[in-house]
Amino acid sequence: MIKILAFAASNSSQSINRKLIGHAVDVLRSEVLPGAVCEILDLNDFEMPIYSLDRENAGGVPDLAHQFRAKIAAADALLISFAEHNGHYSAAYKNIFDWASRLEGKVYAGKPKVVLSASPGKGGAGNVLRAAVASAPHFGAEVLSSLSVPLFGDNFDEASGTLSNPELAAGLRAALGRFARMN
Ligand SMILES: Cc1cc2nc3c(=O)[nH]c(=O)nc-3n(C[C@H](O)[C@H](O)[C@H](O)COP(=O)(O)O)c2cc1C
Repeated sequence: MIKILAFAASNSSQSINRKLIGHAVDVLRSEVLPGAVCEILDLNDFEMPIYSLDRENAGGVPDLAHQFRAKIAAADALLISFAEHNGHYSAAYKNIFDWASRLEGKVYAGKPKVVLSASPGKGGAGNVLRAAVASAPHFGAEVLSSLSVPLFGDNFDEASGTLSNPELAAGLRAALGRFARMN
């Protein structure tokens, strides 16, 4: 049975990317891969001091970074939705990523992944999504597919927790369908 680790790369309690991940996991479980075991991480459970070489030299890599790395290692595939802060990763995710990279540069441990992004504006957090896709091979991830969701307030129905835009809804199913075709 395929194990998928999912998370929003955001630490906001109101995260729209977390809402998108929740919806995507519902679609995975109900339509795409009914047998899949999906775990959703909350980045707040992996909050660590801001990475610094001095901190690492003084105290090593925090246990939470080991735990994050172990979660990735235990998964067959990853599903991540990126929040965009000033064109790139949220500081919350970048910090976890930096600590985890000190354990193993290939942070994504060779896992295939589907990457999403969402923003309230027209850009759909496309900058961070492009950066994540472009750098994925360097960090040991194979990107199966990607989808950017712009204008989240218009395209996502909060009441039902689903994408209301038919094209984006179809795009999500096409993106997640790549998990079903993994060998
Ligand atoms: C510090 C900061 C920087 C931001 N920079 C961008 C940006 O560069 N591009 C963008 O589309 N949205 C930007 N936004 C708006 C975010 O897309 C918006 O807050 C979104 O809800 C973040 O995703 P989340 O809700 O999953 O955390 C920024 C928000 C903050 C707080």
